[in-house]
Amino acid sequence: MDYIQIFNAAAEVEAIAPGRVNLLGEHTDYNDGFVLPTAIPQQTRVAIGHSPNDRHHIYSAELEEWIDIHPIKTSHTKPEGFARYVYGCIRVLETAGYDVPPLNVFVTSAVPIGAGLSSSAALEVATLRGLRSLLHLEIDDVKIAQLGQQAEIQYAGVSCGILDQMASSLADTEHMLFLDTRTLERQIVPFPAGAAIVVIDSGVARSLAASGYNQRRAECEEAAKQLGVKALRDVPDPQAAAALPELLRKRARHVITENNRVLQARDGVAADEFGQLMNDSHASLRDDYEVSIAALDHLVELLQQTPGVFGARLTGAGFGGACVALVTKGQSEAIATHVLEAYNHDGFDGRILVV
Ligand code: GLA
Repeated sequence: MDYIQIFNAAAEVEAIAPGRVNLLGEHTDYNDGFVLPTAIPQQTRVAIGHSPNDRHHIYSAELEEWIDIHPIKTSHTKPEGFARYVYGCIRVLETAGYDVPPLNVFVTSAVPIGAGLSSSAALEVATLRGLRSLLHLEIDDVKIAQLGQQAEIQYAGVSCGILDQMASSLADTEHMLFLDTRTLERQIVPFPAGAAIVVIDSGVARSLAASGYNQRRAECEEAAKQLGVKALRDVPDPQAAAALPELLRKRARHVITENNRVLQARDGVAADEFGQLMNDSHASLRDDYEVSIAALDHLVELLQQTPGVFGARLTGAGFGGACVALVTKGQSEAIATHVLEAYNHDGFDGRILVV
């Protein structure tokens, strides 16, 4: 299925954007902290043209689903499902002062949904790139990420940071992107020598992601307030959180130690050290931040026990989704196949997403 079959006309512009996997720096972005993602090979493609009538028509090839929306600029309409990301992008552009005509939008995506690889950011960034060319907008790649984040917050109800949209807008698959989410200063960082990544989906769809996520964010804000800082990014030493009540102490400790792990990795470490940082990150997400689940812990353990694996952790918000591992280059496929077999043998329904 393509645009022309759906809309009986040729698309005027097309744009793509990749999903991302985060190597280190989880739940740090909304604390003004540091992240280290890379783009994955899977991309989302958006084809756009003018609508022949006064409505937006948004179609998803994977879901075989249509959404028609009347673009009343003052309306508080929020479509459900995939269309809210596209519509959210249109609305944030309008709020930023750009005129967006009624559109036909065709979406197709290879980015797995609900696996923590930012299918929504890929859709937002692809949509905004497409609208940038269609409407000749003077917005750069950072602005695209910021608008995408606004779309996500306002139209998908997740108070997310800027990790996903910056990664989708600025990262490539050959490097890691170090990002300071406060200043948006960034740096392209090579993978450790002799290492490659593997991503395996746990097969457990994320649940409680939005509510658990927003709750963690509120806990971090409260911890920062009690410590008298603007954000947890401003606290470099986990000891500084010792006086907080237990729950907030644990949340703060995760964020502080995770930021330090990203900085260590950015400065260049060998593959085994990088792997250790990933293992420590998982333990911290599991024990202090409490966003892991049994299936993710099991998959991470299987990965960590496998020869050729430097380290592994859950990736993304947690509560389900995928795990990422750093492995010996050239062994990705063999390692992923071996681990997946063991994991599924234990009754799970995992799948390999990136090798
Ligand atoms: C989700 C959010 C990101 C980030 C991660 C956790 O992917 O969209 O902004 O907070 O969770 O690191």
